[in-house]
Amino acid sequence: MQDIGNWTPSSWRARPALQLPAYADEGALRAAEQRLATLPALIFPGEIAQLRTRLAAVARGEAFLLQGGDCAESFDEVGQDAVESTFRVILQMAVVLTYAAACPVVKLGRIAGQFAKPRSSETETVDGSTLPSYRGDIVNGSAFEAAARAPDPARLLTAYAHSTTTLNQLRALAQGGFADLHEVHRWTADFVRTSPQGERFAELADRITESLAFMEACGFDAARTPQLHAVEFYTSHEALHLHYEQALTRHDARSGRWYGGSAHMLWLGERTRQLDGAHIEYLRGIDNPVGVKLGPAAAADDVLRLLDRLDPDQTPGRTVLISRMGSDKVAERLPPLLRAMRRAGRTPVWCCDPMHGNTVTASNGYKTRDFGRILTEMRGFFAAHAQEGTYAGGLHFEMTGQDVTECRGGAQALTDAGLGDRYRTACDPRLNGSQSLELAFQIADVLKAARARR
Ligand code: PEP
Ligand code: CO
Repeated sequence: MQDIGNWTPSSWRARPALQLPAYADEGALRAAEQRLATLPALIFPGEIAQLRTRLAAVARGEAFLLQGGDCAESFDEVGQDAVESTFRVILQMAVVLTYAAACPVVKLGRIAGQFAKPRSSETETVDGSTLPSYRGDIVNGSAFEAAARAPDPARLLTAYAHSTTTLNQLRALAQGGFADLHEVHRWTADFVRTSPQGERFAELADRITESLAFMEACGFDAARTPQLHAVEFYTSHEALHLHYEQALTRHDARSGRWYGGSAHMLWLGERTRQLDGAHIEYLRGIDNPVGVKLGPAAAADDVLRLLDRLDPDQTPGRTVLISRMGSDKVAERLPPLLRAMRRAGRTPVWCCDPMHGNTVTASNGYKTRDFGRILTEMRGFFAAHAQEGTYAGGLHFEMTGQDVTECRGGAQALTDAGLGDRYRTACDPRLNGSQSLELAFQIADVLKAARARR
């Protein structure tokens, strides 16, 4: 068992903690934490162990990780549609990759808990008035008003309730028939159906349906093959709000280990991965798979020390390194990291986040990302792995199944002028359902070629 020394669920409190809100009412914060601590964990140890097994297969080059969802979930999106549409697009993307590259896909949502956001600035100034920055719905409201921007501990409980509702819906979608491969034609949203991506997906769905019919005609018993009727779907979010994470940390009497009960996998952002900081301290003691974002400033020695801290025993499937270098830097910055990990005998899952290094401001002020640059970073990620003899294991992206207009380009050829039509994100710009599917077809080609070379 991993030796966590003097770690406790609260040992992070003795370390410098960046990006946490300053609550005016300490008593209200403590009451919310105490209440959370009495509620059931959202995720259970067996599921966490199962995800670790799946990620270990990714690390060995036998599967691919698809991690996606909102930049920031919102308490206002309570309807069934938002979750279902995201789920169905991830399912579609996974099927495209599985079919094209004959590669099992681990499906991991940025969902059911992705409520806390790190910010570059403590405050925001609009027309001469200055308020605390919006830090995600778990902390404060996005409206530019003093009352909304004041951090409110009651939001911790709303985040828990919201996560529970979303998770319940996801479990039903994954297990209750919707994800049955015989239903593959039904996964396409109406607005995608008539697009080039929708048509390409319909062709693929036809081929899958024909293959299933053929195999069943040959005597293959689909009814007895659970993999055809349900999918494994896992959840993840940034482990930023440590009061929340601590309050949902549980001890597993069976294994004697601690685990984070808020999601299957937790990751650390680029701004909170300091070796001696509170966030690393918290993550090192829990048993979940953990991710770390790595931007262009990440040095190989620092990454090695991070792995020593988070995964001293080199547990298969424990760590995911999420590279987010920017399309113009990936070719230069990623290979030295891959080389250093390989030489040190480290085999983390390597995942590409082609979103966060490629955020720009459009001519009309919208925060956006170019589909072309997202693709370029993704291709650069695969090229770096081919060059270093390591495995390009996954993709981490911000998306929604809905018909939003937040990222430029793609087959839809969205322009700056079109961004205002349906720009709805609570934080960063997301790929819409059609752009996500387009990305999946592009990756499928690259993944297929990369796997053929192995
Ligand atoms: C995010 O994933 O939304 C994020 C803030 O990423 P990063 O830490 O890589 O900037
Ligand atoms: Co983001």
